[in-house]
Order: sequence, then structure tokens, then C-alpha cells
Amino acid sequence: MNNRSIGLALTGVILAGGVSAGVWAEYETLVEMGYPAPKEGELVHVPPTMEDLEEADLHPELKQVIRRGYDLFTNTQQLRGVNVFNDMNCSSCHLGEGRQPFSGPVWPAAVTLPDFRGKNQHVNNLEERIAGCFAYSMNGTPPIYGSDDMVALSAYHQWLATGVPMYPGQPIYGRGFPRLDEPEQAPDYARGEQIYQEQCAVCHSEDGSGLYQAGEYVFPAPWGDGSNNWGAGISRTFTMAGFVKHNMPLGQPMSLSDQEAWDVALYITSQERPQDPRYTGDVRETRERFADTFHKHTQYGTEREHDGALLGNHGNTGEKGEIRPWNVGMPRFEYLED
Ligand code: HEC
Ligand code: HEC
Repeated sequence: MNNRSIGLALTGVILAGGVSAGVWAEYETLVEMGYPAPKEGELVHVPPTMEDLEEADLHPELKQVIRRGYDLFTNTQQLRGVNVFNDMNCSSCHLGEGRQPFSGPVWPAAVTLPDFRGKNQHVNNLEERIAGCFAYSMNGTPPIYGSDDMVALSAYHQWLATGVPMYPGQPIYGRGFPRLDEPEQAPDYARGEQIYQEQCAVCHSEDGSGLYQAGEYVFPAPWGDGSNNWGAGISRTFTMAGFVKHNMPLGQPMSLSDQEAWDVALYITSQERPQDPRYTGDVRETRERFADTFHKHTQYGTEREHDGALLGNHGNTGEKGEIRPWNVGMPRFEYLED
């Protein structure tokens, strides 16, 4: 696509907070790579970079805290054994330091929360949203609300949203891991396995355990003890399919067909991983409890078609040890009236 057609595609798009032509070039590159162009009425925001932070007119201590938040986001392994019990960094799923469209950019949470969240049935603020990814995606225990680490991470998220109005009211371009259309054929485990072994195993390893080299994390684990647990958003097959299509193989996003993305997503989400922190002690009962919402999109508590294994039927929490309950369904604000 040439620049002119991208210019045309931008008609009617709302540009948040002073986006310069230079920064816009970054987005043009995305469109050239095959990502959808912004649609009319969508809010487009290009978050500031760490270089912009150095130039910004902010209190030096605030800059330090934002740098700390960035460091925690991109090297969350420094909290291993305390808040993180798998092989992930936040940036393992939120690529481009949490800035990248179609890769779950994290700043929208800073301008759309507090809001009601179906996953835990109450109004969440930004800290609680971050805590959710710790509990499930990092198979961890969130830092305490208001602690230095939580404030630093929140500050990083909020600073990325610089210039965007609160509760913007328009759909946000590139938010989340966009949902693909329903596949033409039912996703297929065997086809998914073949794609995985041919295009993914070179980095993520044949058994899904990723790669550690000399004690250093190189590639994350899409399943197994080093991965996210069964309660993580990416264990839903449609979220995995959206993630893979828009982000993988690394460096070749948008190269798989939608069908291939669904197939490989089914393969990955049909592998074992640490127990859902909402586990009641019985996998079928736990599935049933969240069957209308979350687990209708996962393979958890179902029998895997190719070998009949009952997925999630174990008390294995990876490195986390005990199963710690999380705040799902915790009653909040019940004393308030309409
Ligand atoms: C295993 C993958 C994974 C990891 C690791 C992960 N997340 Fe997420 N995160 C997700 C998914 C999936 C979503 C939901 C995206 C969607 O709705 O499409 C999400 C959503 C979010 C959102 C909300 C974004 C929005 O649009 O409102 C924030 C904020 C967030 N994550 C922060 C974090 C932080 C901070 C960490 C590290 C402590 C982290 N995530 C680690 C997968 C992950
Ligand atoms: C060239 C190496 C490479 C290839 C090939 C590759 N990935 Fe990744 N993948 C990565 C890296 C690196 C990350 C983490 C992003 C980061 O740290 O910047 C990642 C992240 C992921 C994640 C989220 C974190 C996790 O482990 O769950 C999934 C899922 C994933 N890749 C699936 C795939 C699939 C499916 C394919 C094949 C279609 C694939 N990858 C091919 C390097 C690769």
C-alpha cells in the first residue's frame, strides 16, 4: 500500500494527543505488513517511547518510577518466586513493550477503567486489571495494591496513554488481540500440531517449554509448567488464535491464514498448564462454574479428542505451590443502592 491510500484510510479517524507525521510512519509500516488500517470513527493513539520520556517535562522522580515500571513490564522475571511463578514477562504477550497495536497494547486499560469486568463480576481499577494478569497469565501472586512495584507498573501504563481522553467512547484501533472470524472448518488438532512443529517449535521447542539459555529466558513457554495457567485469557482458543495471527511467528505476523491460526491455537490450548487459581478441587465442577463465560472458550475440563485426556484434571500449580484463591466473585460495593 502506498502512502496516499493510507492517507485516505485515515479520513474520519480520531487522532489522540498530538501524533506527529513521523510517528505516524510507524503505523503505516503496520498496514504495509498486512494489519488492518484504522476504520472511520476509531481512536488512534501512538504511545510515547522511552526516548520520549527522557525529553518529557515531568518530575525527575516520576521519570524514575515510569522507568521502573517499564523495567518490570519487560523483565518481570526479576519478581520470580515472589509475584511470578512461570517463565513469562508481561512483554511475552504484550509485544513492543506494551505499545504495539494488535498485541494487547496495555494503555487502553488506563483510560477505560474503572469499569465493571465480567471476569470477576465487579468494578475494577487499573491496579486490579494488572493484578489479573499476574494471577493468571504470570501464574503468580499480584504485588500489593499501592506497593512500589504496583505504582510503578500503573504509572507506566498511564504514561503510555498520555494525551488520550478518559473514557474516550470510541473503539480503540488495535486494542486487544482482535478476534478472527469463525473458521470455515472446525479447528483441527492434527493440522495444528503440524503447523506448530513446522513453524513454531524452532523457538518455542517441540514440547512447548520455550527456551532458556545459560539461565536466561530467551523464548517463552506456550504450555507446560513455565506457561500461563488455565485461567489466563490467552488459554481461550479464540484469544490464542487472535494473538497468533497478529503476532506469530515472531517477525512474520499476519502470515498464517485464519484457519491455520485457529488450528494451531486449538493445538496449543489443548495442552496442559498450571491449574486455574479458581479451582474448587474438581475440574469438571470448576469448568461448570465458569462454563457460561470463560471456560466455554477453553478446553479446560474437557476430554482431548485425540487421546481422551481430561485436561486440567490435576492439582499441579507449577512453581507456585499451593493453589491460592483469587478475587473472582468477591462481593464488592454491596451496600450501594441504585
Ligand atoms: C500469557 C499472556 C499474557 C501475559 C504474560 C500478560 N498478559 Fe496482560 N493480557 C493478556 C490477554 C490475553 C489480555 C486480554 C486482551 C483482550 O481482551 O483481547 C490481557 C490484557 C491486559 C490488560 C488490559 C488491556 C486493555 O485493552 O484493557 C492489561 C493492562 C494487561 N494485560 C497488563 C499486563 C501486565 C502488567 C502483565 C505482566 C504483569 C501482563 N499483562 C502479562 C495476556 C497476557
Ligand atoms: C523466531 C522465534 C519465534 C517463532 C518462530 C515463533 N515465536 Fe512465538 N514468541 C517468540 C517470542 C520471542 C515471544 C515473546 C515476545 C517477546 O519476548 O518479545 C513469543 C511469544 C509467543 C506466545 C505468547 C507467550 C507464550 O509463550 O504463550 C505464543 C502463544 C506464541 N509465541 C506462539 C507462537 C506460535 C503459535 C508460533 C508459530 C506459528 C510461534 N510462536 C513462532 C518467538 C517465536
